[in-house]
Amino acid sequence: MTVGILGGGAMGSGIAQVAAMAGHKVTLVDLSTSVLQKALLSIQSQLEKGIEKGKITSQEKEQILERISVAVEISSLVGCDLVIEAIIEKLEVKQKVFAELDALLPPATILASNTSSLSITAIASACQYPDRVVGLHFFNPANLMPLVEIIPAIQTRVEIPALLKEWMLAWKKVPVITKDTPGFIVNRVARPFYSEALRILEEGIATKEEIDFSMKKLGFKMGPFELMDMIGHDVNYAVTESVFTAFYFDPRFKPSLTQKKLVEAGWLGKKTGRGFYAYPEGPSLTDVSSTLQNKIQNRILAMLINEAYDAHYLCLASEEDIDLAMTKGVNYPKGLIAWGKEWGLAQVALTLEGLYQAYQEDRYRLSVGLKNRITG
Ligand code: NAI
Repeated sequence: MTVGILGGGAMGSGIAQVAAMAGHKVTLVDLSTSVLQKALLSIQSQLEKGIEKGKITSQEKEQILERISVAVEISSLVGCDLVIEAIIEKLEVKQKVFAELDALLPPATILASNTSSLSITAIASACQYPDRVVGLHFFNPANLMPLVEIIPAIQTRVEIPALLKEWMLAWKKVPVITKDTPGFIVNRVARPFYSEALRILEEGIATKEEIDFSMKKLGFKMGPFELMDMIGHDVNYAVTESVFTAFYFDPRFKPSLTQKKLVEAGWLGKKTGRGFYAYPEGPSLTDVSSTLQNKIQNRILAMLINEAYDAHYLCLASEEDIDLAMTKGVNYPKGLIAWGKEWGLAQVALTLEGLYQAYQEDRYRLSVGLKNRITG
């Protein structure tokens, strides 16, 4: 099988590496030759790290690199069996590119988008053969993060998701099939990790350092503020805003004015040297009293668990797949469904009901899915 990748930036180069490591010939296309050179260098350095860790031999590295060719013309993708698009996150641009791919490639070629927030159905609508379009969402860095969300649009041929699941397993990935709804699984279920932390900060209940410390104590690799600084506030805010808008302004997904201010100031996080913290120093976290720790942890975790049960209730995926998505896509220490059961669902509900009573905001409403699990 020959795999085409359109867009050779952070994601495209990682996906190209994964496909070539799985034994496929890969054609990587980008508008810019300098991006392509950078992509090849980055793949090379990732493979060298693989040699150091004893994962591949230097002979295998050469073979993997030989399988990758680069080009600036989209016509170089003729002959590919699967094309994965990883260009800029703008619907009009993606629709234009998909229309071009659709005209260029025979209807049997599968056209996948790596979009993290756009509707696959809307992207597919630009094609004459929309039934071959599907979402294939990798996580950053694509060569290291195991999860791939497979998202059929309403037009997608029924056999395509299962076929891609088989391919992704052969690529040594963890595939999860989900629905074409805003944020898919991970970017929807993870919203409260950021938004509830921001809300706690805005209310003056705790400082960013105290919140980060508490969530790391719970097992998360990074606190919410450190993580937002790493992702970039422009990207993180845009995803929250797009999920909020796409859910018809459901208050559960409301963006934060505090984060918007950072975007307006150009304090985008680590990449600009300043976000919630100043870089390269980053945060210096100090201990937090156990009472405050519990308050922070319970509030954020209850909101996350509620969101996971809601995603299951709305048939996005099985409980097991929702847990796989959060542990294999964003490194959560435990799956949220399992975490809820461990904590006690009645206790989770009590925490949420306490918040709902205190604020009288729809944001804190208990998911019917969670309620049903308690009442059996
Ligand atoms: P990036 O900005 O690093 O790379 C995009 C590349 O696409 C650039 O090199 C650009 O030259 C190229 N490009 C733009 N228009 C093109 C065209 N018409 N033809 C060929 N190449 C074109 O972006 P990144 O971060 O790799 O994101 C790509 C896609 O992956 C976006 O849809 C993004 O939402 C999605 N995504 C990003 C993740 C991340 O953490 N960066 C995670 C998962 C998905």
